[in-house]
Amino acid sequence: MDSAPWSADIEAARQQWLAAVASCAQLPALRSVQVECLGKNGAVTALVRRIAEVPPADKRAYGQATAALKAACETAIATRQTELEAAEVQAELDDATFDCTLPPAAVLGNRARPTGHAHPLCTVQQEVEAVFSSMGFAVLDYPEVESEFNNFEALNIPGWHPAREMQDTFWLDNGLLLRTHTSSGQVRALHTFQPPFRAVFAGKVFRYEATDASHEHTFHQLEGLLVDRVVSVGHLLDSMRTLLSAILRRQVEVRLRPGYFPFVEPGFELDIACQLCGGAGCSACKQSGWLELLPCGLVHPQVLRAGGLDPAQWQGWAFGLGLSRLAMMRYGIGDVRLLLGGDVRFLSQF
Ligand code: PHE
Repeated sequence: MDSAPWSADIEAARQQWLAAVASCAQLPALRSVQVECLGKNGAVTALVRRIAEVPPADKRAYGQATAALKAACETAIATRQTELEAAEVQAELDDATFDCTLPPAAVLGNRARPTGHAHPLCTVQQEVEAVFSSMGFAVLDYPEVESEFNNFEALNIPGWHPAREMQDTFWLDNGLLLRTHTSSGQVRALHTFQPPFRAVFAGKVFRYEATDASHEHTFHQLEGLLVDRVVSVGHLLDSMRTLLSAILRRQVEVRLRPGYFPFVEPGFELDIACQLCGGAGCSACKQSGWLELLPCGLVHPQVLRAGGLDPAQWQGWAFGLGLSRLAMMRYGIGDVRLLLGGDVRFLSQF
């Protein structure tokens, strides 16, 4: 059977448009070819519509042939588009002047794309680190997954010790745990540095506990450790006051209470007047008007020994600042759960 008179037209169109697609070297060119071929007034669209003029006996074959043509053009265009997009990205990456650390377009003038900014916890952490850095402290970073030794034993908290109950723990299958406090870094620092030394180390800590406005299972602390021949509680407290007035930028009322932590002796709780309610009592301060912010004390001789130091030669002080609480006081955030909730509407306010 002779092929129908229109089949040559369809074949010619196929060759013409596939060649046109293949010759596109840029995305805008491909977009015009797509319009010329498949747009409302496109050439292939016109061919498809011409079915109205085809004799009834041919309609079925004609319809199938033009549908196949249209599909072939669509596939070719989609494939070419993927290739050109990939080539565009590659060309940017190959460009020696391309800087992937540049801020996004918003900073460069395109307001459509908003820029991000530091999380309030990061800002507070960096500010505290800067204050301690200016006082000669090294800024360190220690792992979130810890050994039982570093988190408990070396800190004078053996397995039978009731203090373990205060810090319910996430245990891993391999016997390690998620650190319950940044104090686990104390032993690491004692093993790493020759005294005298001073260091701060901040980060996430984890406790297996119910959450409320002032408790989260994951929160941030910043630990400070200073080791020298002779240290004093006076020096410790003065450093804490320097820190608080630098961060909160105002005179804050503090109170010192005895506090029990097996790894310090003597130990203290340094509370600040709740900055949210001004001391009247709210859910953030458990209606007490005070917020436990800065547990601290002189390093226990057992801890110095576990760190390989002779307590007759060396002394130290340490503190474990509640960074999440400090951020709450600084920014007037009433619920700790907001900090790690990941809600952009909340975070974009800072
Ligand atoms: N690690 C203690 C806690 O998280 C706080 C602390 C640190 C107390 C350092 C004293 C000295 O509760």
